[in-house]
Amino acid sequence: MLMLGIETSCDETAAALVESTADLERPWRIRSNVVASQVEIHREWGGVVPELASRQHVRDICGVVERALAEGGAAWREVGAVAVTEGPGLVGSLLVGVSFAKSAAWALDVPVVPVHHLAGHIESIWLAHGNVPLPAIILVVSGGHTSLYLVPKAGEYRLVGRTRDDAAGEAYDKVAKLMGLGYPGGPLVDALSVEGQAARFPLPFTRLTHPDRNAPDRDHRFDFSFSGVKTAVLRHVRLRQQELGVTALPDQDVRDLCASFQYTVVETLLRRTFKAARWFEAASIGIAGGVSANRLLRAEAVRRGAQARVPVFVPPLALSTDNAAMIAAAGLRAHAAGRIGAPDLNAVPNLVLHANSEERPPPRP
Ligand code: KG4
Ligand code: ZN
Repeated sequence: MLMLGIETSCDETAAALVESTADLERPWRIRSNVVASQVEIHREWGGVVPELASRQHVRDICGVVERALAEGGAAWREVGAVAVTEGPGLVGSLLVGVSFAKSAAWALDVPVVPVHHLAGHIESIWLAHGNVPLPAIILVVSGGHTSLYLVPKAGEYRLVGRTRDDAAGEAYDKVAKLMGLGYPGGPLVDALSVEGQAARFPLPFTRLTHPDRNAPDRDHRFDFSFSGVKTAVLRHVRLRQQELGVTALPDQDVRDLCASFQYTVVETLLRRTFKAARWFEAASIGIAGGVSANRLLRAEAVRRGAQARVPVFVPPLALSTDNAAMIAAAGLRAHAAGRIGAPDLNAVPNLVLHANSEERPPPRP
């Protein structure tokens, strides 16, 4: 089966061809993976402007799909089904992909397969590495999401933790903005951190694992929060500006703040992920989503995995940021399970991944 994947949930117009193989350990093979990034358009505004994003998707979608077919060496008639991100995301952006996918599937007389964006990020691990030992704990960490999923068997996703406020990537982008670094902030803060001293500006760890009187759900042990650390960076910036009587901080202050922020975020992500892995006796850990491109997160995750004797899987960069190959892969999984879309398939901006699968950690024995 050759699956055409389409992803337009935010600011990347992406199309890819992924085919199923006879190899049970590596069931999918990427034929092409094309991404048209809109980052240059949104950089001017310091963030994604939804209306500009959807207009650019309309401009780019035909060319991107045609390139995916050409690079994959496939003709339209070879496409067996079309997988598309149904949600979550920006509604105007999602609509471009969903409308295109439905039209293409209808014209080809093949099924359209709706995919949850986070199922795509999770499946990027299987796409890159083949079958991983189960149960697995998967951290999905991006600009829009920071969630922990337990995968007891392939294709089953149970939410066991999520951010209560900002996503980690969003916090990176906001911290970069308040230090005047530009957009998107993640890669910039990551690069500057390398020359910074994290110990110079210690930042607080938000603790949600102890009974939290204000928390809506006290049983949730693996939740995250990143708004506090972002505000703490802002406080340091203001303080230094006052102390020095300047608006632009010296380069070394910026590097040190970046390093401290990065250390705090990565520690928070990994402590929760490894704690969840111990709790659920996971046989492997996966880290997916745009922030998994972070060099400290990647290196530390692998180091701690070796220490804890739990293999850690991270997809290569082309599969960790938004792409359509992961959507095609999740589509192949859904199609094999008989899940295909109805003709009235529509974009769902706040789509929940398997609404009833939220699993509370079992009580301690
Ligand atoms: O998965 P993604 O491409 O899009 C969403 O679904 O959100 O993730 C984009 C996010 C942005 O917030 C970006 O700043 C962050 O990933 N990011 C990084 C790095 N590269 C991208 N964050 C930290 N370190 C990086 N190296
Ligand atoms: Zn994403």
